[in-house]
Amino acid sequence: MNKFVIQGGKKLKGEVEISGFKNAAVAILPASILAEEKTVIQNLPDISDTRTLLAILASMNATVTRLDNNTVSLEPGKVKECKAEDGMAGGLRASYYFLGAGLGRFHKAKVAYPGGCLIGARPIDQHIKGFEALGAKVKIEKGIISVQARELKGATIYLDIASVGATINIMLAAVKAKGQTVIENAAKEPHIVDVASFLNALGAKVRGAGTDTIKIEGVKKLGGCEHAIIPDQIEAGTYMIAAAATRGEVLIKNVIPKHLESVSAKLKEMNVTVEENGDEIRVKTSKRTKSADVKTLVYPGFPTDLQQPMSSLLAISQGTGSITENIFEGRFKHVNELKRMGAVIRVEGKVAIIDGVKTLSPAAVKASDLRAGAALIIAALSTKGKTEISQVEHILRGYDRIEEKLQKLGAKIELINGKEADE
Ligand code: UD1
Repeated sequence: MNKFVIQGGKKLKGEVEISGFKNAAVAILPASILAEEKTVIQNLPDISDTRTLLAILASMNATVTRLDNNTVSLEPGKVKECKAEDGMAGGLRASYYFLGAGLGRFHKAKVAYPGGCLIGARPIDQHIKGFEALGAKVKIEKGIISVQARELKGATIYLDIASVGATINIMLAAVKAKGQTVIENAAKEPHIVDVASFLNALGAKVRGAGTDTIKIEGVKKLGGCEHAIIPDQIEAGTYMIAAAATRGEVLIKNVIPKHLESVSAKLKEMNVTVEENGDEIRVKTSKRTKSADVKTLVYPGFPTDLQQPMSSLLAISQGTGSITENIFEGRFKHVNELKRMGAVIRVEGKVAIIDGVKTLSPAAVKASDLRAGAALIIAALSTKGKTEISQVEHILRGYDRIEEKLQKLGAKIELINGKEADE
């Protein structure tokens, strides 16, 4: 098992360049099999989730060529079927996008039931409802989901929940369906817009992405394209919170400030200086932050993915604050680990009430999931002394070169590999 060893207590200072958005990348890679010609994906984050998806694409006979660390060319010509049934696909959530993409391209797909972060029940009933409305039959047997349709016909689908995954999966299945598909109560997150831009660059006709009604006019054929993935708002938000927690000053580069408005507003409320300038955000504070109440909501509300990092900042802020988690019921696994570091938190249902302490204390803690890991890194950076974080493979699924980026900001963080870390 790998672990991070962090000698905390140093203010983060300097500049950090944000990578491409994980959540867009993990949809666009499976979507590339809808293309009939070559696609070149730029600004692809080099994280284990994208590496796994590239390996799955290669296992389907796509020609995958890395042009540099963050650019990949994908030629789907030799892909004849969409099957991702093994452990690789079961290891991450986004493998379910092969269901929509495979349906769209081949009218069938078989994919291992998705894994990913254990942050709640995470059902996929809305994806299935969408596929069935388009004319597909869906079967779940022995951990494998199979979808199949003789013909895909456009339909109007009203989502019970504005699910990000279901919205994207239905878009992928519908781009080549006969006639018009309308998704009502669609999710509006920035990566929905990015996936729609990618599909439109291939020749699809997707309108309204970013609003709660998406209309898709089916087309017969999709070509190829070059597409640069939008910046990762969650990675950016993580560095913003880390800057505040260490009372440092960080210039966050290559971001879309609009996507981070809810985070900037909350940090300002906590007495952090946040300045936007073009595609950069500067975050600075020299004093202890003031506590606040945070409620997670669908975009443009405060993102659930930053709730865990934010709890680390609240844990050391002045006064009592709270987190209300409205999206995933099980997203408080980091709380026990923060308590090990001296945080004073009590969870009552979907609310965590956090009494800020002056400082946390170092401890050996475990990352239970991706953003829980980010929360622990922030807690460790703010705390004098040596904190060890194990199960970091969760963190490496989603943060591109995190130790290198933090080291550049002056942090003392080391990734210890394998056996050495087990000792
Ligand atoms: C995506 C993001 C994840 C983020 C989440 C919410 C990716 C790869 N992951 O996850 O980082 O935290 O959006 O912004 O983009 N639900 C159902 N039935 C369904 C689908 C979802 O009940 O068929 C529920 C979920 O259990 C959850 C809520 O809807 O309570 C939102 O889930 P959803 O938006 O689908 O999240 P993901 O796509 O899994």
